[in-house]
Amino acid sequence: MLTDELRDEVARLKKEQDAVILAHYYVSDDAQDLADYIGDSYFLARKAATLDCKTLVFAGVEFMAESAKLLSPKKRVLMPDPTADCPMAHMMTRATIDEARAEYGDDLAVACYVNSTTEMKAWSDVCVTSSNAQRIVERLPQHNVLFIPDMHLGHFIKEQVPSKNVILNDGFCPTHEAIELREVEALKAAHPGAIVCVHPECATWLVQAADYVGSTSGIIGRVTSGSESDYIICTVHGVLHQIQKDLAAAGQAQQKHCYFPRTTPICPNMAKVTGEKVAACLRNGTGEVEVNPEYAEAARRSLNLMLELAK
Ligand code: 13P
Ligand code: SF4
Repeated sequence: MLTDELRDEVARLKKEQDAVILAHYYVSDDAQDLADYIGDSYFLARKAATLDCKTLVFAGVEFMAESAKLLSPKKRVLMPDPTADCPMAHMMTRATIDEARAEYGDDLAVACYVNSTTEMKAWSDVCVTSSNAQRIVERLPQHNVLFIPDMHLGHFIKEQVPSKNVILNDGFCPTHEAIELREVEALKAAHPGAIVCVHPECATWLVQAADYVGSTSGIIGRVTSGSESDYIICTVHGVLHQIQKDLAAAGQAQQKHCYFPRTTPICPNMAKVTGEKVAACLRNGTGEVEVNPEYAEAARRSLNLMLELAK
């Protein structure tokens, strides 16, 4: 729980340091409550690129804070917990890209999910997020698209864009992949009219069982705008905080019910990011993000092309 004292301190520090706090929906509720902007990966990248401030506090995992720094190199970017890293961001080797480039030559684009290291983004042609991947892959001039690192999002995009030869890698999100179909089926049996909302990082068999597939913002929007009363949510539990706020604002808190699989999906790295740590990084100037200068320019090009093609 956030105290009034902590809220006041953060408001004072933000003013003194010309700081803005960005948070992803998966971080702890109190970190979300301190944020100026909360959103999915694409929304937060756009905000980082366009906000006019000296300091950004990025309540999220490392790849998000690095993307913010790449898109806004003059700003100081602070991470409340610099050990919060996404395991999927490392599930890719250079050799896989080299092999694909050798095989397909100029008719290959490497599309890199933003859940990736700066180095990986630099090896790639364009970045994507779950909310813009389909649009971007459709718009690429090349016929062959190596999609890295997430095989499940890659598989979903391959099915959505059959006109392209989408080549898959073998990375995955341990939290989303662990969501079990039988637990979702049990929920469906208990709530037969429920809409199954699935993040495309989930395993293919779960995505195929979905009524709605989308990014965190997409899922939140599907629940708040939907006419149905019951929703089965297959993504990290942190999204519930925003759903509850949106339903309360719309006067629908009593009418709509969200159910998560019995093994609650929690991202251990996102969960490290608490309100107290958001305050502490501003208070102490800790967790400043630096990107490897060797890869910065090429990685920035991939991110900027994403912002351009997603428009
Ligand atoms: P989105 O918020 O873009 O859907 O991403 C989900 C995610 O796993 C971020 O790590
Ligand atoms: Fe990475 Fe999965 Fe956590 Fe997102 S939810 S940050 S993909 S481990």
